[in-house]
Amino acid sequence: MPRPHLFFEGVLLMELVCDADGDAAPRLNDSVFTPAQARDHHARLIREVVRMLCAGVVHGDLSEFNILLAEDGPVIIDLPQAVDAAGNNHARRMLLRDVENLRNFFGQTAPELLQTDFGAEIWALYERGALQPDTALSGRFQRQHKTVDLRGVLREIDDARAEDAARRLRMAQAR
Ligand SMILES: Nc1ncnc2c1ncn2[C@@H]1O[C@H](COP(=O)(O)OP(=O)(O)O)[C@@H](O)[C@H]1O
Ligand SMILES: [Mg+2]
Repeated sequence: MPRPHLFFEGVLLMELVCDADGDAAPRLNDSVFTPAQARDHHARLIREVVRMLCAGVVHGDLSEFNILLAEDGPVIIDLPQAVDAAGNNHARRMLLRDVENLRNFFGQTAPELLQTDFGAEIWALYERGALQPDTALSGRFQRQHKTVDLRGVLREIDDARAEDAARRLRMAQAR
């Protein structure tokens, strides 16, 4: 993110993000890069997303239009609509969308990224309180299926049968 310089009467003055020539850096959507660069930028931006979430913030409008390509790598800008991760009902949905935007954009250049699911993985770790700025990520996410307690179910059935048998026996004896 650009370094903030001063905040005065609601205006935040930030560092100008520059490209290699010292000009204002282009947005990602106006930039050209190789598949290797796409993978590198994607990985670095995922790490930024994780660091923001560790600080309790979700960007909420992250896309190739709000990322500048500076001399030393991508820089995320345009944060006024960022939301508080813990206090906002939409935080999860917004984080998933932010990460999906990154995947779909860089996936155009490096198609293998289209198979990844970093958003769900990141949010699951965050929810469990297990997300750290440097947590290793796989890009895969296994949805948790609850294992069925088969023994427990069979025990319930046996109990119901035994109860029914006992009831029939009592009825037969009462006749
Ligand atoms: N720190 C910065 N350094 C260089 N250019 C910037 C910087 N911040 C914004 N810009 C330029 O201004 C444009 C609009 O900024 P942005 O923060 O995305 O506002 P919005 O999308 O709300 O109009 C960006 O697309 C970028 O080209
Ligand atoms: Mg913008």
